[in-house]
Amino acid sequence: MKLVIANWKMNMNLPETTGWLEEFTRMQKNDSLAVEVVIAPPFPYLGEVKSTGLSVGAQDVSALEKGAHTGEVGAFQIKDYCKYCIVGHSERKEDKAAVLKKRNACLKARIIPIVCFVEPADALDYYADGAVLAWEDPANISVGGNYKAKDPQEIDAEATFMKKSLPDNATLVYGGSVNRQNAKELANIVELDGVLVGNASLDPAHFMEIVEAFTL
Ligand code: PGA
Repeated sequence: MKLVIANWKMNMNLPETTGWLEEFTRMQKNDSLAVEVVIAPPFPYLGEVKSTGLSVGAQDVSALEKGAHTGEVGAFQIKDYCKYCIVGHSERKEDKAAVLKKRNACLKARIIPIVCFVEPADALDYYADGAVLAWEDPANISVGGNYKAKDPQEIDAEATFMKKSLPDNATLVYGGSVNRQNAKELANIVELDGVLVGNASLDPAHFMEIVEAFTL
């Protein structure tokens, strides 16, 4: 099943979040079984998303276990809300060791980490059994709605290259300016198991078009 993941980043307050969820669930069709939709809201809204029945992802987690760590949120605290957790997003500027600690904290708590990385040649370094890999080049991450998407042919070639270095059952998604214009082409890339969508996921109708491109 393909994964279509919404990474909301630090956008939307509570009324906007509930409005988005109402609109999206109203548009949802029951037969879209070919796709798992994952919504990754900011921490305060994990429960709001969970109550819709959609799969929930956190956007980050602490690498620490528990205790006197002001402001940190641990894997044991989000696991009741989240099936998934994004770790190592390039906007967080964490080094590989920190990302792998967070990946492992998720796996220990039985949360599926969505492990972000930049260089295709590094895919295997970030892989672990039970993790999802998310390849994202910061050069292609949309800022302010300006999409500078990679050429789908290049994505196809890189995905094929990465899959060759990974175990057969590895799950690989692409992120960076995924939008309603390029979703269909991305859905047709055999070696790609889904997409991680930032900016275009903030509009429920736009995000639904991407989900449908992967469904049909
Ligand atoms: P974008 O963000 O879709 O706005 O490029 C993707 C991401 O950073 O996860």
